[in-house]
Amino acid sequence: MIKLHDLQFVPFIAEDEIATAIDRVSDQLNKELSDKKPLFIGVLNGAFMFVSEVVKRFNYDCEVSFVKFSSYEGTKTTHEVKELIGLNEKLTGRTVVVLEDIIDTGNTIALLSETLKDKGCSDVKIATLFFKPEAYTKEINIDYIGFEIPNKFIVGYGLDYDGLGRNLTQVYQLKSNNMTNLVLFGPPGAGKGTQAEVLKQKYDLVHISTGDVFRYNIKNATDLGTLAKSYIDKGQLVPDEVTINMLNAEVDKNPNAKGFIFDGFPRTEAQADSLSELLTSKGTEVSAMVALEVDDEVLVQRLLERGKTSGRADDADEGVIRNRIKVYYDETAILKNYYQKHDKYFGVDGVGAIEEITERLSSTIDKL
Ligand code: IMP
Ligand code: MG
Repeated sequence: MIKLHDLQFVPFIAEDEIATAIDRVSDQLNKELSDKKPLFIGVLNGAFMFVSEVVKRFNYDCEVSFVKFSSYEGTKTTHEVKELIGLNEKLTGRTVVVLEDIIDTGNTIALLSETLKDKGCSDVKIATLFFKPEAYTKEINIDYIGFEIPNKFIVGYGLDYDGLGRNLTQVYQLKSNNMTNLVLFGPPGAGKGTQAEVLKQKYDLVHISTGDVFRYNIKNATDLGTLAKSYIDKGQLVPDEVTINMLNAEVDKNPNAKGFIFDGFPRTEAQADSLSELLTSKGTEVSAMVALEVDDEVLVQRLLERGKTSGRADDADEGVIRNRIKVYYDETAILKNYYQKHDKYFGVDGVGAIEEITERLSSTIDKL
């Protein structure tokens, strides 16, 4: 995550993906304009990086020039396009390729394209690195598009937020701050299941229990379930990538969720990294790791008590219980460290009445 002025941005498109997209656009330009001696016109300021990369890849005679006008202040378009400067070339009969960093409403490109035709260009082509189809209000066809992106504000690779961010070599998108994504932890017997249920209702979150997700996918023989089962049947661990793909599918099933409670994942630092990547790709992040803290002796007593009625074999034996608790702390210690480093670890006292514990959890969550 990065901060520019008052806003936070999360990684969106990596440098190598941008290079690949520019390769593709340039291939098209080379194919279609080899004998046209095109004039490339970059729209300043945002297009400078894109222009440089495109013209470096153009293998035939061409000219390069720039024009300038801007319609943007902050992250909202002002809907007024300012005056055009820098158009000095003789344009009659020429093939012109306008190079834009981004086309949003299309106001800028519509005006420029009209001006170029008025000045007698025989052919006006438009190439843009980024295009927001949902925001576009014009009819003009865009000939070459690097990426179609959702209607979100982005920075980097020439694009700015109030002057900053143009030098970033990858593209970031504005972080959507309104989601609450919790990684919920608690030792066996801490009441994690109960609290997850309550929090889910109270904050309108989607509870993703990795165990449930696995069982669901395997039972319904989804592609990922079948893949996971093939490892399980061989007695192997399911690779993180398969698990994360299943979680990704769960997240995608809930596009309007106010947030998620992750339960049973991550278990390792590598998994924590994957989860962070997954959420980043959705413009959000883990808000907090919340761990219920309950004294070992209390847990042992609770589980032994539960064992009397639950019939669960692993609740009946004190040695087994103590070992489960130990495994929990061994696993959790790593993640506690991981999230502590990011100031995202919150231990919550898990002893008391259900409502009291919910109250403590809520006061932590409300501060996120
Ligand atoms: P349009 O006239 O609405 O198509 O806006 C085009 C101009 O708005 C671009 O050249 C950029 O300067 C600016 N712009 C549009 N969307 C973004 C964005 O997501 N980030 C940064 N600048 C943007
Ligand atoms: Mg621009």
